[in-house]
Amino acid sequence: MSRFWSSLTHDLKPYVPGEQPRIADLVKLNTNENPIGPSPRVSDAVRNEAADTLRLYPDPQATALRAALAAYHRVQPEQVFVGNGSDEVLAHAFAALLKHDAPLLFPDITYSFYPVYCRLFGIAYDAVPLDQSMRIRIADYRRSAGALIVPNPNAPTGIALSRREIVGLLEEHPDAPVVIDEAYVDFGAETAIPLVASHRNLLVVQTMSKSDRPSSFSRSRSPLRSANARTQPTLSAGSPFSIRLSAIPGCQFGKPLKSRTRAQTLAAGALMTLDT
Ligand SMILES: Cc1ncc(COP(=O)(O)O)c(C=O)c1O
Repeated sequence: MSRFWSSLTHDLKPYVPGEQPRIADLVKLNTNENPIGPSPRVSDAVRNEAADTLRLYPDPQATALRAALAAYHRVQPEQVFVGNGSDEVLAHAFAALLKHDAPLLFPDITYSFYPVYCRLFGIAYDAVPLDQSMRIRIADYRRSAGALIVPNPNAPTGIALSRREIVGLLEEHPDAPVVIDEAYVDFGAETAIPLVASHRNLLVVQTMSKSDRPSSFSRSRSPLRSANARTQPTLSAGSPFSIRLSAIPGCQFGKPLKSRTRAQTLAAGALMTLDT
């Protein structure tokens, strides 16, 4: 290890990516690959973008993308922030929302990046054991918590909480931020987005990089990564300029969903708002 590394870097364990076999025509779900590929209109739009406006900084607040996502999910643009993959959105959430005196709670078997972010941002956490059938038991979260983060459905178990159970978590911890990571929501879970209006402590994170619905909401057909989060309007932080959104004729929100999600994936920028 280099002597120039900070003690923080020194103590981190490097992330080891899963096996990536180099077999032609193999669909690797662990890297979110989709066999269908992006729309030709998206490829054209990316080419056009690279030819001209790539020399300019993108809109730091990703205004068009946030407006489109907000309209689609029936929330206000101020309630949406976007990032370059949900890993970036989650990094902002961990840094801005999840560090408190009481520990952050998440399942003991879950997305392996959560403990890594905790170490990176110095967040104390308790990993709450799943039950015998690999389920999250809401009753086990009735304890002191600075914040909670739960993937729904959980990964890698694929088992989902109902919306009613998520309400249970939110109401059990009204003063703690609760992040619901919906990376795999299209594979079998109810989104918690409708709860944002009534629960000031809720942040819902989604991503364009995974989906089981290529014919309806083709998130996984995106050529680039982008993700977004919905919450109450009064949060503010983030990394501007991390994503670029082109106005693509024919690929605007409001057109069929397939086109819409392809357009979304060209976008970037991050604005994060936090309830005070
Ligand atoms: C539960 C969960 N959340 C978030 C992510 C990050 O996804 P991305 O950064 O591609 O949006 C993953 C990736 O595997 C995941 O499993």
